[in-house]
Formats: sequence, C-alpha cells, structure tokens
Amino acid sequence: MALLLAFPQLNVGEFFTFGRLRPVHTSGVILGFGGNALLATSLYVVQRTCQARLWGGRNLASLLFWSYQIVMVAAVISYPLGLTQSLEYGEPEWFLDILITLVWLLYLAIFVGTLVNRREPHIYVANWFFLAFIITVAVLHIVNNMAMPISWTSTKSYSFYSGVQSAMIQWWYGHNMVGFWLTAGFIGMMYYFVPKQAERPIYSYRLSIVHFWALVFLYIWVGPHHLHFTALPDWTQTLGAAFSIMLWIPSWGGMINGIMTLSGAWHKLRTDPIIRFLVVAVAFYGMSTFEGPLMALKPVNALSHYTDWTVGHVHSGALGWCALMAFGSLYHLAGKLWNRPLWSMKLVEVHFWLAAIGIVLYITAMWVSGITQGLMWKAYDDYGFLMYSFTDSVAMLHPYYVVRALGGIFFLAGAILFAINIFMTIYGAHEQKSADKRLSARPAPAE
Ligand code: HEM
Ligand code: HEM
Repeated sequence: MALLLAFPQLNVGEFFTFGRLRPVHTSGVILGFGGNALLATSLYVVQRTCQARLWGGRNLASLLFWSYQIVMVAAVISYPLGLTQSLEYGEPEWFLDILITLVWLLYLAIFVGTLVNRREPHIYVANWFFLAFIITVAVLHIVNNMAMPISWTSTKSYSFYSGVQSAMIQWWYGHNMVGFWLTAGFIGMMYYFVPKQAERPIYSYRLSIVHFWALVFLYIWVGPHHLHFTALPDWTQTLGAAFSIMLWIPSWGGMINGIMTLSGAWHKLRTDPIIRFLVVAVAFYGMSTFEGPLMALKPVNALSHYTDWTVGHVHSGALGWCALMAFGSLYHLAGKLWNRPLWSMKLVEVHFWLAAIGIVLYITAMWVSGITQGLMWKAYDDYGFLMYSFTDSVAMLHPYYVVRALGGIFFLAGAILFAINIFMTIYGAHEQKSADKRLSARPAPAE
C-alpha cells in the first residue's frame, strides 16, 4: 500500500488500487493481527492468573478461534468487492456485523466464565483491562453499526444516523477503538508480560488500579478531537480536546509503571531481546500518547489534520506500541506454551533491529511530509493568494513516501523472521515429542 502511494502507476485494474485496499490493510492489521494477538494473550493470561481452565473447554475456544478467522477473512474479501458501510474501522456490512457480534459475545462469555470459575480470589489487573476492552468493543460495535438493510436479501444497508450525529457516533466509535482495542487490550498484555519476562513484580500495583479507572473514564469522551473545525458544536470539540489533555496523566502513569517494572533488572535490556521489544513498546506508548493530546489542541490540529502527521502518529502507536508489544508477548508465549526455548534468539535480535529501523524511517518520513504538507496549504503570498497548489503539495510527498515504503519493507522483513522463528519453535517441539515417543516405544534393553 505504501508503494501504491509512492508509485501511483502500480494501481492497476479495478481491485488492485489504494482505495479498495486501504480498508483491507486497516482491518488486516487491527482486527487480524492485533485481534488475534489480543485473543491469544487474554485467554492465556486469564487462565494463568485465575488458576482456572477456559470456560466451555477446548471446543468452545476452538469455535471462537475458527469463527473469528472466518468472519475476518469474509470482511477483508468483502471490501475490494465494494461491500462496505464506508465507516472507517467499521466497514463490514450489516450481515457481517451480526456475525461479528455473535463471535464477540462468545469471546465475552468464555472470558467472564473463566473469571467466574477462578480459584484465585483476586482478579489480576491485566484481566480488568482485557475485560474493559471486550465489553467496550461490544458496545461500540453495536451502537455504531445500527443500520437498516434495504431488504433481508440485500447486502446494502442504511445507517440509523445521519449528518453530524453520524460523524459524532463514528468518531466516538473510532477513538474508542484506539482507546480500548489498541490501548486497553495491549495494556492488559503489558501488565502480564513485562513483569513475567523481567521476572520482577509490577512497579506499583496501586498505580495500575488508578491507571485503569482514569483511562476508562477519560477515553470515552475524546472522540470529538477527530472533528475539529467541523459542523460539530464548538463546545463538544473543546470538551474532546480538554479530555485528551487529561489523558496525559493515566497514559504516562501507565507508561512509567511499565518501564519502572524493570527496576533492578535493567541489565536484561542488554541480554534479552524479548524484554527489549516489550520496553521499547512501552516507550512508544509514552511517545504516541504524548503526541496525541498535543494534536488534539485546536491550534495544533489546524496544522496536522488531513496531513501525514496523523498517519505518522497512528503508526508510532500501531507499530511502535501495539506491534512491538504483540511481538514481545508472543515470543514469551511461544516459549511457555511449547515449553522450550525459542528456535533462535539471534533472530529475535535481528527482528528487533529491523522493526526499530522500519518504525523510525516510517514515522520520521511522515512527520516531515505531514508538517511540510500543512505548512504548504497555509502559505499565502503578499497579495493573499495561496503560494502552492494542492498538486504541488502532492508532488512534494514522493521522496517521503518512498522512505515510508522502505521502512515498511524493513518492518515486514522483521515480521517474516518472527513468523519463521515461531513456526520453527513449534515444529521443533513436535519433532522432540515424536522422538520421545519413538524412544519410549522401543523395547527396554535386556539386563
Ligand atoms: C492520549 C492518547 C491519545 C490521544 C489524545 C490521541 C489523539 C489523536 C488525535 C488528536 C488524532 C488526530 C485526529 C485528526 O486530526 O483527524 C489522532 C489520530 C489517530 N490516533 Fe491517536 N491519540 C492518542 C493515542 C493513540 C494511540 C496509542 C494510538 C494507537 C495505538 C492512536 C491511534 C490513532 C489513530 C488510528 C488515529 C487516526 C484516526 C483516523 O483519522 O483514521 N492514538 N489521535
Ligand atoms: C509494514 C508496516 C506498515 C506499513 C508500511 C503501513 C502503511 C500504511 C499506509 C500506506 C497507510 C495509508 C495512509 C494514508 O491513507 O495516507 C496506512 C494506514 C493505516 N495503518 Fe498502516 N502500515 C503498516 C502497519 C500497520 C500496523 C501494524 C497497524 C496497526 C496495528 C497499522 C494501522 C494503520 C491504520 C489505523 C491506518 C489508517 C490511518 C489513518 O486513517 O490516519 N498499520 N498504513
């Protein structure tokens, strides 16, 4: 996709075009990659911290896994075919929305059922974040997707909302997908996997509880910062900006809590590449949540809105925070689940550097291109005429788009190494198991 923007001539035919593929990318990474990482880690963490097996057993968990994959694949196929509600991050049409709701309720039932069956009286803080993520996403999904199909046999539907209400509901949904899917869920991961991998207790358990309540209370109000200078009532925009600034407090409280968990184990940053993934992810969480409230201020948003600065902000959160946290947690998980060291720690190290270089190339290119874009749109000459046409600002973007695509190639190369490493770890475990079986099947040697 980054290449399609850098070299527009690559957009060929009806389906292989940026417009059709963009939602495939956003759903693929957020729901496909992020969603599967969240399902895997939350269902693991809830069992470990509650000392209980999954409610509904293996069959229900398998049903959840397969039904989630099937609806996601169906959604991703439907977009290039033109079946979309045109709601960003909520593109699937009504019939898929109903299936998604059913799958999500199954997830909620398994998670809550396991919590209820717990043998540990205390509910560990990671589970609070996972539960907030699951419940809030259910509410967001249902409210934003309220629509009337043209008929029961038609794939097309019309939303219950129109005009400014539609925009407000959409961005209430959109920002809370950021706040609960891309943040609360991943914080759940942080609170389990950082202490585990560092072999240290959380820096402050009390701070984690304050982090939780402040985060869930504040996030839900900030949607209007996506609609500055629109027909939305002005006071609503200011409210969104004010709550965004307040979000600095829990976000940085949580970031400090995550990073300080390494107190007394800082040396591990040198020796353990998995902990490096986790800690750098938390640092990116701090960085993107520092930048977000700034961008929510109207004078800053007047420059950043509609520019690549937003895209840079998105990816410092998505790649730096979410993806690195997911990689670190899944490396830890693979070792534990297959009860053996990872196939190659060297490869984890290489992956870390490829990802880090990729992110830096991506976000710096977008900062420069975004701010230049914003400044070009605002530049007037002495007579009050615009100094640059819109086309000038598009032509200026080309070198930055090439650098972004290069960053993406680095990041993707790292992700491929990750997949190979996990696959080989699992394959190694199976080989070991069959070798053990063969050994135990041999007749015992005669005395
Ligand atoms: C305190 C935390 C945060 C605040 C206050 C915040 C604020 C903002 C603002 C003001 C925008 C630009 C809106 C516009 O001009 O259209 C934005 C866009 C965005 N942010 Fe954040 N941000 C925060 C953290 C994060 C994190 C951690 C992530 C990702 C993991 C993230 C993902 C996004 C996305 C995906 C968009 C683009 C939405 C779109 O237009 O499609 N944000 N954020
Ligand atoms: C190889 C890594 C990646 C590359 C090269 C890449 C590239 C892109 C490109 C070219 C766009 C379109 C920007 C535009 O419309 O101008 C985009 C949008 C987006 N990507 Fe990525 N992406 C990557 C990974 C990810 C990941 C892992 C996530 C989430 C976990 C993510 C989340 C998003 C989101 C939310 C948007 C929409 C942003 C907005 O509307 O402002 N991306 N990405």
